[in-house]
Amino acid sequence: NQERVMLYEGKAKQIFKTDDVAKVIIHYKDDATAFNGVKKTSITNKGILNNAITTIIFEMLEKRGVKTHFIEKLNDRDQLCHKVEIVPLEVIVRNIIAGSMAKRLGIEEGTIPSNVVYELCYKNDAYGDPLINDDHAVALGLATYEELATIKEMTLEINQALIEFFDAQGIRLIDFKIEFGRTEDGTIVLADEISPDTCRLWDKETNEKLDKDRFRRDLGNVEEAYIEILNRVSR
Ligand code: C5P
Repeated sequence: NQERVMLYEGKAKQIFKTDDVAKVIIHYKDDATAFNGVKKTSITNKGILNNAITTIIFEMLEKRGVKTHFIEKLNDRDQLCHKVEIVPLEVIVRNIIAGSMAKRLGIEEGTIPSNVVYELCYKNDAYGDPLINDDHAVALGLATYEELATIKEMTLEINQALIEFFDAQGIRLIDFKIEFGRTEDGTIVLADEISPDTCRLWDKETNEKLDKDRFRRDLGNVEEAYIEILNRVSR
């Protein structure tokens, strides 16, 4: 639909206006980037797969009482969502050590920590999404302490729901990144997506990586891994 008015374009998605000012259409693209946009490609059907996977996960979370921006899947690549103001934080949860934490602190990937690791990053490409704490977030005016407490509480609930959901499909949830938004009345809701682009997902039996690390690390079979995740979460 060429007549749609685009409000915003990100690396993997586009946001379009609807007739209702309180709702937007989120369109999932095949574009993939890594390392803050330095590495770029297009992954065949990624938009279709991530739209489908995110829809299943957000519907599951809504059923468990988590407030989200999601309203409904419209077609292969589009979702209808509540319009929110994105809180410019990347909220990361690590159940198993991998990725940037393994590298930054010299920990072997796959190490199981004694505690769940909760991280906040400032969502800002110019500064490379730096790791920050609550005081930084408040000082930068990104959120209030009250909102940060809500975000942490919701995130830990979401983590529990996701661990159980993926475990039932033979998948280990290593870590993930989520984003939150404010609705018109200031309610904090889960926004953005939850997909193999934003989670590390390892097969429970073989530890095979079934996520975006296949692209980041040139492991091959990227589309196949995303299809495998969709097949499992659809069961
Ligand atoms: O790279 P790092 O180890 O910090 O990533 C932690 C988790 O957050 C991974 O699941 C990764 O896919 C996700 N992430 C993301 N978007 C970013 C950075 C990390 O979805 N910009």
